[in-house]
Amino acid sequence: MLVTFDKNSKTFNLSNNNISYVFFVNKEGMLIKQYFGRKINDIYTYNYDLLNNIHDDFYCYYNTKENKEYSYGEKPYISGEGSLFEVPTYLSFDKREPLVIINHKDNSSITDFRYFDYKIFKGKTIFENMPYIRANDCECETLEIILKDIKDDIYLHMFYTIFKNKDVIVRHNKIVNKSGYNIKIERANSLNLDLLSMNYKLISIHGIYATDREIEEQDIFHNNIEIKTIDGAKTFYHNPMAMIKEKKANDEYGEAIGFGLVYSGNFKFSFNGTKLDQLRCSIGINDENFEYILNNDEVFETPEAIIIYSYKGTDFVTNTFHNLIRENLLRLVPVSNEKIILLNSWEATHFNFNTEKVMNFISSAKNMGVNLFVLDDGWFGKRDNDLCSLGDWSVNIEKINLKKVIEYAHSIGVKFGLWFEPEMISYDSNLYKNHPEFALFDKTINPTLWRHQLVLDMTSKEVRDYIFNELTDVLDNYDIDYVKWDFNRSLCDIYSESLKKENQKEIYHRFTLGTYDLLNRFIKRYPNILLETCSAGGGRFDMGMLFYSPQIWASDETDGIQRTYIQYSTNMFYPLRTIGAHVSARKYLSIKEKASIAMFGTFGYEMDPTKLNEEDLKEVAISNERYLNNIDLIKNGDYYSLLNPYEGRFVSWMCISKDKKNAVIFLFNYRHINWTSRFLKIKGLVPNKKYLNSLDNTICYGDYLMNVGVNYSIGMQAFTPILFNLVMLDD
Ligand code: DGJ
Repeated sequence: MLVTFDKNSKTFNLSNNNISYVFFVNKEGMLIKQYFGRKINDIYTYNYDLLNNIHDDFYCYYNTKENKEYSYGEKPYISGEGSLFEVPTYLSFDKREPLVIINHKDNSSITDFRYFDYKIFKGKTIFENMPYIRANDCECETLEIILKDIKDDIYLHMFYTIFKNKDVIVRHNKIVNKSGYNIKIERANSLNLDLLSMNYKLISIHGIYATDREIEEQDIFHNNIEIKTIDGAKTFYHNPMAMIKEKKANDEYGEAIGFGLVYSGNFKFSFNGTKLDQLRCSIGINDENFEYILNNDEVFETPEAIIIYSYKGTDFVTNTFHNLIRENLLRLVPVSNEKIILLNSWEATHFNFNTEKVMNFISSAKNMGVNLFVLDDGWFGKRDNDLCSLGDWSVNIEKINLKKVIEYAHSIGVKFGLWFEPEMISYDSNLYKNHPEFALFDKTINPTLWRHQLVLDMTSKEVRDYIFNELTDVLDNYDIDYVKWDFNRSLCDIYSESLKKENQKEIYHRFTLGTYDLLNRFIKRYPNILLETCSAGGGRFDMGMLFYSPQIWASDETDGIQRTYIQYSTNMFYPLRTIGAHVSARKYLSIKEKASIAMFGTFGYEMDPTKLNEEDLKEVAISNERYLNNIDLIKNGDYYSLLNPYEGRFVSWMCISKDKKNAVIFLFNYRHINWTSRFLKIKGLVPNKKYLNSLDNTICYGDYLMNVGVNYSIGMQAFTPILFNLVMLDD
């Protein structure tokens, strides 16, 4: 049993072998958190007073109207400043961040939900219209708690799923309106986690075009740190993943808690250090410019949020995210299990190609060992530059004989992929001429063009139907194995003609749901097409997208050195098999060197294959062989960061098979200082097993390699990646 309810103390206990999440219902029907952390067995003697007597100067009285006053010091009292709440209220006694805000029929936004009922069931819930964590009934159990609003017949269903073999809690909430009136939801967070201490550091990811993800660490003080986006359907400038770690914790030691949201729209993570030195963590849809009208009998569901607990430092959180995403989120297609080496045309040709050039590309790509060729932007409408044609998804037959090139590719054993940007419309397009109302912007003002284009109104079913038909016209008629689904701008001039004026603040969320609807239709109709999403590089790299596309193009920055930072940061939360990484013709490193970085992702090339000389082809052959030899470790192994590039002049990471028999290690030196005593400590090996090091053929025990390390003091060259394997020897 993973979830239990103790009727006497009204305590809910979610525990697996490692973690416990415990809260109880107090006399007022509020859910008070008792504990979250490493598993403790005797939860019932760990009672409420032990927690709350620390701040009894801050008590509140309740229900004075019914003459149920409690005098000072008498129980039960709660503290708006310091009690740990599962459902923090709004405009009431708790001045910290609320979970949900409901604007009632009398225009009051006082929001206070109290306990009503509960259910416990095996497995977990799924969504029709949003991405979610997939799990079968043997993997997890779910607690559904139902609360009722103190003013009206409005119900809050809170779902907590705990996994048996993963230290993960999945949370989401559902608001059900039975009040007989329309209500306005002004905030609908997915989770609230109150912690007894604020003695943490926060690790989050920020980014921008070509520097797509950079991790950043900051102290938590007595304020509210918000990590959020307001770009609509992009997770570029901040990413919906974060981690807090005790100040004394590191990658292998101490408490760390991971947070994630399975959502690609505007989100907000807030970390609120309180007066009493506690921490409130709130995760959910960004409530800025958000208001959702919920009619009577309607239901609003929040996206799923993830909490991961570790008492073994940040590496454990990283690997739990990797395992969860790999095993419970990704939708693998048959091609995902093949050993794919991809070549994408973009950096080599941009819009400048014809049938002959593409045929030559494909045959040279085959010669390089490539087995998936992707024709990027430029094959449709009259798109010879980025000024036009988005929305006109018909093949430009004067430019490219698509049937011929696909048939040719398939005849020589190369799969074929095509680029789309379905949610966009060019000003200069037939679609805009015929349906200007399909574009999302306020028609009373001049629209903001971004990369010369507008965004389609994805809130409208009519628009989605139209664009889906356009896509199927191509995909039903051409034998396509892979689709790259791009998204190159943010949402601006937020106004939809398809929504009533009172629903305009629903646009951001409805747009995100619209995108999910289109993706859902796509994967149902084409279950075997390998989908890679993209957004001006890696601008929409999140768990929401990974539900549909098992890989995401990580960045338009393909310079290997810059990539080490982007990949290191991405690796912290996302499994390597999801990270689109290609070798390009950028100048700083050799092909082989760039490949030693790109191989820690969905490996491929982004260069003109017809221009490679014999020397290059030799490097390509070595690179392909290395990738294929290590593909299983990279796709399915455990990941450890060894040296953090933000903290020194080196970066290093490794992947190790689950049975710990094989490991591949990457190391890169950013500076020209060679004479230095350096030992790289390896992680995750079996201490009393011997390992053969492919770098110098030395044999060492695992404990030696983990505690002393691999000696790379001499022979360490600047800007030269080092790649080596450790193989466990039989006894
Ligand atoms: C942005 C992507 O990140 C690139 O890889 C490429 O597909 C271009 N868009 C095409 O317009």
